[in-house]
Amino acid sequence: MAPMNIIYISLEGNTRSFLTRMQGYAKQQHSLSADRPLIELKEVSDQTLPADETEPFFAFVPTYLNGGNGIDSGFTEIMTNALGEYIAHGDNAKQCIGVVGSGNKNFNEQYCLTARKYSRDFNAPFLADYELRGTSQDIERIYSILSKRWNEVNA
Ligand SMILES: Cc1cc2nc3c(=O)[nH]c(=O)nc-3n(C[C@H](O)[C@H](O)[C@H](O)COP(=O)(O)O)c2cc1C
Repeated sequence: MAPMNIIYISLEGNTRSFLTRMQGYAKQQHSLSADRPLIELKEVSDQTLPADETEPFFAFVPTYLNGGNGIDSGFTEIMTNALGEYIAHGDNAKQCIGVVGSGNKNFNEQYCLTARKYSRDFNAPFLADYELRGTSQDIERIYSILSKRWNEVNA
C-alpha cells in the first residue's frame, strides 16, 4: 500500500501538530500490519511555488474567516488562501480525493467552513473535522476514514 499523501496549511501549528502525530500513529499501525498506509506530509505556505500534483492527496485546512456569520451574510477566507490556490493550480484539484477541516466550535456556524467550501469548489468529499490540535481519538478516527478512502481510490 502506497503512503497516503496529505497537503496542508498551518498558521499557528495546530494542523501541523495533528498531522505529525497522525504520521507517527500511521507508522505504528504500518509496523503492525503492512496494509495500513504510512503518511507523507507536504506543508503549503505563502512561500510555496505552484507545482503539479501527480498522485492523489487529501487536503487538511484549518478555518480562518473574516466577517459574516456563515449563514446569511458573507464571510471571507483569510490566511489559508495559499492552500486553495495551490489546489486550484493546473489539474491539482482532480487529484484531491478528500478534505478534512479543523476549527474551533466557539465559532458556531462558522465551524470548519473553509473545508466545506473547498469540498464544494474542488468537488472532493468532506471527510471529517476535528477541533484545534485534535485528540488521540480524533487521530485514530480520521486515520481510519482516510485509509478507507485511500483503499477505495487505489483499488
Ligand atoms: C483570526 C482567527 C479566525 C478564526 N476563524 C475561525 C472560524 O471562522 N471557524 C472556525 O471553526 N475556527 C476559526 N478559528 C480557529 C482556527 O481554525 C483553529 O485555531 C485552528 O486549529 C488553527 O489551525 P493552525 O494552528 O494549524 O493554523 C480562527 C482562529 C483565528 C486565530
